[in-house]
Amino acid sequence: MDKFVIEGGLPLHGMIATSGSKNSALPALAAALLTDEEVVLERIPRVRDIRTMQRLLVDIGSEITVDEADPERVVLNTKTIVSPEAPYELVKTMRASSLVLGPLVARAGRARVSLPGGCAIGARPINFHLAGLEHLGARIAQEHGYIEAVAPDGLKGAHVVFDRITVTGTEDILMAAVLAEGESVLENAAREPEVVDLAHLLRKMGAKIEGEGTSVIRVQGVSKLHGATHEIIADRIEAGTFVLAGAITRGELCVSRCVPEHLGALIVKLAEAGVTVTQVDDTTLRVERRIGALGPVDMTTEEYPGFATDLQAQYMALMTQADGISIVTETIFENRFMHAQELMRMGANIRLDGRQAIIAGRSRLTGAGVIASDLRASASLVLAALVAKGETVIDRVYHIDRGYEKIEAKLSGAGAKIRREE
Ligand code: EPZ
Repeated sequence: MDKFVIEGGLPLHGMIATSGSKNSALPALAAALLTDEEVVLERIPRVRDIRTMQRLLVDIGSEITVDEADPERVVLNTKTIVSPEAPYELVKTMRASSLVLGPLVARAGRARVSLPGGCAIGARPINFHLAGLEHLGARIAQEHGYIEAVAPDGLKGAHVVFDRITVTGTEDILMAAVLAEGESVLENAAREPEVVDLAHLLRKMGAKIEGEGTSVIRVQGVSKLHGATHEIIADRIEAGTFVLAGAITRGELCVSRCVPEHLGALIVKLAEAGVTVTQVDDTTLRVERRIGALGPVDMTTEEYPGFATDLQAQYMALMTQADGISIVTETIFENRFMHAQELMRMGANIRLDGRQAIIAGRSRLTGAGVIASDLRASASLVLAALVAKGETVIDRVYHIDRGYEKIEAKLSGAGAKIRREE
């Protein structure tokens, strides 16, 4: 298992480029199942979750070619659905595998997908995906840990009201609705940029969709979708992580190839804390914190356009360096504070109280051996290590490899001392 060895104390400077969004690329890859024509996806990040999804699609029947000249360009062709199934072995390593459920029922009339089981950050059931499919006319049964969804006569458009906002749930049902007969209305839909990106791809494939980016999405079903070429949006969570890395190290860092408006909530919090984030051009942000103390600023995670839960752990690392007490409230997942214990091993002063973390800064962090528990928790440990005195060894970095492309190379390029050890 790989480890990161990080020597802290160096401010980041220069430029780091953002990769394509993992959480946009995953549903986009699943969407390729909706047509027997060629779908070309560009700016696919080279991270482990994407490779897992590609393996799943190949098992289902897709032919996948990665462009040799441009490995971020992936060509998918699913002439026939050979096996409409997502096995436990894959689903347990990546919950987003359930994104094939909607496309498979819509295209093949049948899907068999393993139930994901528990997760490091919360229970994360997929009941809203299933309820949505049932509304569209699928019959759902559960046996041996698998969900079996069938719609032999095709799906029928329907009114789906999500009990709670769900990102992949909205994506899954949207992908089912585009091939359902008649109109579907998805209410209380997620407004995340990744949902909007998926709608853009589906529209290029011939789907009729209105309202993406709002909480009501209307779909007029079509009988067939065709091939398309689509470039995935920038990864706002990766970009936000680098912005926070610049802030925590008191650096002067530009984060390029991002979409600044996707990071609005983070930029507002950082401004309150005394960190200057300026927009250099349409796709570049510059973060600077060279003088002055960092202010403690409370933060509550929310669905988009609120503060992303996927940046909560990294923000908490920053708040350990603020002068005073800040409260971080996690409202999306019930167990997403695993990083707090590890930050405490590095000298942070954090008290957990249910969904709240009370952080008393400013702590002098020192390097220690720590364990990555999930993707974003790992990123927060990397940030803490970048300011800690001495050497930090982060174990189980396979978690970070799930969603960050070559993070050690990107951070080294900006002046960090970080290396990977096997
Ligand atoms: C997506 O997960 C992201 N994953 C997550 O990113 C992200 O943290 C999350 O949205 C919230 O923004 C992908 O896009 C692949 P949800 P998702 O359904 O869709 C509950 C990362 O680090 N819920 O919006 O699975 C659920 O338990 C990952 O990149 C149900 O109860 O999240 C949670 O409390 C981690 N039943 C809340 O809703 C359901 O059927 C929101 O979850 C579905 C969800």
